[in-house]
Parts: sequence; structure tokens; C-alpha cells
Amino acid sequence: MQLTAEERAMLDGAEGAATQKAMDLLVRYADALGAERFVETDNVAGVPGAAHGFLKDYYRDQGGDYNAIFSLFDLDSDEVVEVPRMKAFSCHLQGGMDPDLWREQGMSETAHDGFVYDEEQNAEHGVQLLKTCTPYVAGNVPAHGEHCAWMESSAVVYCNSVVGARTNTEGRESTSAAMLTKRIPYWGYHCPEYRHGQHAIAVEFPVGDVFEWGMLGYFVGQSVEDGIPVITGAISNPSLIRHKHFGAAAASSGGVELYHMVGITPEAPSAAAAFGPNLPEQHFVYDAAERRRIYETLNAVGECEDVDYVMLGCPHYSIEQIAHAAQLIEGRKVHENSALWVFTSRAVKAVADRNGHTKTLQDAGAYLMTDTCSAISQAIPEGTRVAALDSAKQVHYLPAMMDIEGWYGTTAECIDAACTGRWAGRLQ
Ligand code: F3S
Repeated sequence: MQLTAEERAMLDGAEGAATQKAMDLLVRYADALGAERFVETDNVAGVPGAAHGFLKDYYRDQGGDYNAIFSLFDLDSDEVVEVPRMKAFSCHLQGGMDPDLWREQGMSETAHDGFVYDEEQNAEHGVQLLKTCTPYVAGNVPAHGEHCAWMESSAVVYCNSVVGARTNTEGRESTSAAMLTKRIPYWGYHCPEYRHGQHAIAVEFPVGDVFEWGMLGYFVGQSVEDGIPVITGAISNPSLIRHKHFGAAAASSGGVELYHMVGITPEAPSAAAAFGPNLPEQHFVYDAAERRRIYETLNAVGECEDVDYVMLGCPHYSIEQIAHAAQLIEGRKVHENSALWVFTSRAVKAVADRNGHTKTLQDAGAYLMTDTCSAISQAIPEGTRVAALDSAKQVHYLPAMMDIEGWYGTTAECIDAACTGRWAGRLQ
């Protein structure tokens, strides 16, 4: 491992004990990866010091506060050290509850007190409270080629593929250490030679709306697992929300962290450029039969057509999606046997508030929530047995996590289900 003079000084403790612990953790991490050096990053997205009740109790004897959890858990230190202000530009990803609607989510006063404390600590330590899985929609849009250290699979795949910035899927420990040191191992997707395509995907069935992009993403992840796909063919209408749903699905059914779409994403002006020196290892075709198979896979956990709960906003909804949902529900009411929760970031909700979308949703009996989602917070309306979702990622996780049934469909089908209490989604 080659260290610069500045990195060596951090490791020797010149910038304090916490930075020394962070550098020590990163050197061990880099050694395990086989990285030979670090790269400087000034864009870190993680969940520093986050602690639910279990962690706070676990570290109670050592103080149980931010310093204790950050030192012992995030930095894998054997002693509690004082955590200074973060050195890198750092932002907080999604958290565990809505700052205002936490009671509706079933959270306790104690859990909420912990949430308030964590937020105060992170703000004092210079962590920007974006509180979203879509930092690229809420004030952290990396530049092409920028080296980042991000957690959250749906954000990582967007960062790498759509923006052309560079990050691996980091963990809580490496991002917290990177916040203090501005360093991350130079390895994997940071290196241009590991960003070339590996598998070819030919899209024969036309893919144009968000619902279709989500299903294609699920197919791609299933096909290439954690490889790098190069996608060509009948894909249209690329947009932030379509990439967001495609990448989240591909990162859920597989472990896709980077994809290339020829003529669409920045490192794929041509298939030859996307593959670079690689030859495709495998070829996959997405046609009408594969589309139907994916639809049936996503709906395999749906049986009962009485829908108790509709969740929208995985990944967190953009303002365009909130406006669309508000338009679909305006003048209607959520059915008495159902509930509709829509998730977004605080920044986007502020715009939705001013545009009247939040009120439109509230008037219909729905909630616009921020910071979290049902899968992350494991919060669903009491008594939920059947959920309807417009996200392939969420239908992949939520029914399994909460032991409920789930349906996958379009946003319009989900809103209809919320207003009628019945699932009527069908593949056209
Ligand atoms: Fe975001 Fe939750 Fe989906 S954190 S990507 S809305 S699982």
C-alpha cells in the first residue's frame, strides 16, 4: 500500500485520534481488496453514527452516544474517541423515520428521541442531512469522472452509469472513514479498466415508460448478476426517473453497479466503446416472452386482490413523479380499507408543498413522507396483508421482509388500487 505524506501523517495521528482510526480502517480495507493506493474523494454519502435502539443499548456501557457508536461501530475502534467535523463533503442517505409523521409510521417516542439526537450530532459534525436514497435529486449531483464514496445500491448504479462518476458500493464503515479522511481505496469502479462492459443485452420488446424500464432493469440484473451489461435496442425516453427505476431494479435482482446503454449513457457512445477491450461473455435477449416472465416473477407474491397498502416512491420520488401521482388522485379518496404512503426526500417535498401536491395527496387521504421508506424503516400501516407497488425494487424486498403479499404495476394501477381497495393491474 503506497501512502502519500498526508496519508501517512493521518495514519500517524497528526490529525487526531478519530482520523487515525479512520485511516487505519481504510488501510486494512484496502489491503483486503488488494488496492495499492487511495484516491481522494470530496463526495461521500453514508449513514454516519446512525443508531437504532439496539446499537444504543449495545454500547450503553461505553456511553452509547454519537462518539461511542461512531468509534466502536463505524470505525471498528477498540476505544471511544472524539469525532471531529467531517473533512470531506458528506451527506446522509435515507434514515429510519419521517421527521413529522413518525407516529403514523408506528415509531416510539424513544426511537424518535434517538432520531432527533442523531440528526443534531450529524449536523454538528458537518454531515448534510439530505436523508434520501436519491442524493442526485436532492442537491448532490456528482460530475462526470468524479471519485465518490457512496453507499446505497440504487444511488451507486445511478452515479456510475448515468452520471459517469466513479464509486464502488461502499459500506457504512468505509464511508464514515472516508468522511474523516477524504480517502477511499482506488479499486474496482474507480479504475477505468474495470468499467468496460462484460455482457450484451439486446432489447427487442419496446421499453418506453417507467413501468417498462423497471421490468427491463429487473431482467438485466437477473441476467448479468454483478456483471456490467451493455444494452442496445428498443429503449426510448431516457430520463432521470426511468434510469432511477431501471438501476434500482438491476441492483436488486442482481448486483449491478454500472451499466452502459449504447447511445444513452456517457461511457457508451457505441457498443465498441462500452466494451473496450472486452468481448461479450454472454448474450441475452429481452423479448415479449421475457417481459411476461419478469412481470409474472414480480407478481408471484400477489394472490389476494384486496389491497391494504399502496407504497410509492422507491427510489424516492422526484418532483415530476409526485406531480403525476397528485394529478392521478386529485378529486378522489383513498379507500377506507387501504392506505397510500408516498416517499421522497425533504428537498423534493419542500417543492411539493409549495406546488400544492402535498395538500392534494393529503386531501385524498394519502401521506407524503420523507427520509425513509417501508423497507428501510420496516414500517407499514397496521394490519397490512397485501401491498401494491410501482417499483420492481420494492416488490423484490418488501413482501419478503414484512411477510405480506405484493403486486407490481404502473403508478396509475397502484393509485387505482389505493382508491378502490382492489388490485386490477394487468400486463397490456
Ligand atoms: Fe430508497 Fe427505500 Fe427504495 S431507501 S431505493 S425507497 S428501498
